[in-house]
Amino acid sequence: MKEVYILAIESSCDETSMAIVKNGHQVESFTVLTQMDTHAAYGGVVPEIASRMHTENITMVLEETLKKSSIPIEQIDAIAVTYAPGLLGSLLVGVEFAKTLALVYKKSLIAVNHTIGHIYANNIDNELKFPLLALAVSGGHTDLIKMEKDYQFEILGSTLDDAIGECFDKVARVLELKYPGGPNVEKLAALGTPSYPMPIPVNDNTYNFSFSGLKSAVINLVHNERQRGNEIRKEDLACSFQTAAFDELKRKVELALKNTNIKSLIIAGGVSASSKLREEINKVAEKYGVKVSVPEKKYCTDNAAMIGAAAYPLYLQKKFASFDLNAMSQTPLTEKKEQ
Ligand code: KG4
Ligand code: ZN
Repeated sequence: MKEVYILAIESSCDETSMAIVKNGHQVESFTVLTQMDTHAAYGGVVPEIASRMHTENITMVLEETLKKSSIPIEQIDAIAVTYAPGLLGSLLVGVEFAKTLALVYKKSLIAVNHTIGHIYANNIDNELKFPLLALAVSGGHTDLIKMEKDYQFEILGSTLDDAIGECFDKVARVLELKYPGGPNVEKLAALGTPSYPMPIPVNDNTYNFSFSGLKSAVINLVHNERQRGNEIRKEDLACSFQTAAFDELKRKVELALKNTNIKSLIIAGGVSASSKLREEINKVAEKYGVKVSVPEKKYCTDNAAMIGAAAYPLYLQKKFASFDLNAMSQTPLTEKKEQ
């Protein structure tokens, strides 16, 4: 069978990334240009600055990706791009760039959902084993998803309020840690003990999550202690928060493993870069004889390799997008309908 090379583009937030992915599994060339340091000065991503920086950088990222690859652009089979969900201005830069490349080089265009991209990061140098349960944990998502086959998603549960990554970022801010908060909370938490009492968010029989109560508890605790002139044990507070947040994930993952008897579990999204989360989910899975798959760390946070991996099943099914493809800030967990 002929090899399929997909040039993938990701620009949904503050990373401009491109990759050339072979047959949906092998990364031939990979570039990520992060704007993290710029946004850190503001304590979070500034959408206007993000889209301007994508515009400045995207051509360089293409040049770099092609330079590192042995595959010339003429030999690429399709151009894939994240069209949703994310920051609208940022997405538009990638979508327009992809359409122009597809038009000039006469390639098929594939529209990829960013969250599906995170799930398919588990297909890089690996193979999704169905049926599976996917725990998607990022700055915008906290979902527990069941998949019987490629591109079939049954959402078992979701967050009722904030996404877990967003809470890590808010907690980091109140603890005066640098953006992006997640990795810094993880580092600090490793030095502490879970000695601050935290609320238990949703202890019911659904697969839904809740994190806003936990986030508010941390913020209120910090404000109250500061008002009283008391010192906060930041390491212990980070550890208490992280433990409670991961316990929330573990409870629902365990419930799903018990009820579905599914033996394959994957973790996806930026928060899956956490070594502590990997360790904790592994402990739960072991009890049920379940194998956990997590992407390599560089494919956990936003990147184009996962978009190339997620585009491959769409390529095989000839689900191509038309040139009036538009970006969307929100979208359900499905592929863009071919037009
Ligand atoms: O998937 P991602 O890069 O972007 C979105 O699609 O949202 O996820 C970013 C989120 C941020 O909230 C970041 O703080 C969190 O993932 N994150 C982590 C860790 N690394 C990244 N959260 C906890 N521990 C980490 N090590
Ligand atoms: Zn993401």
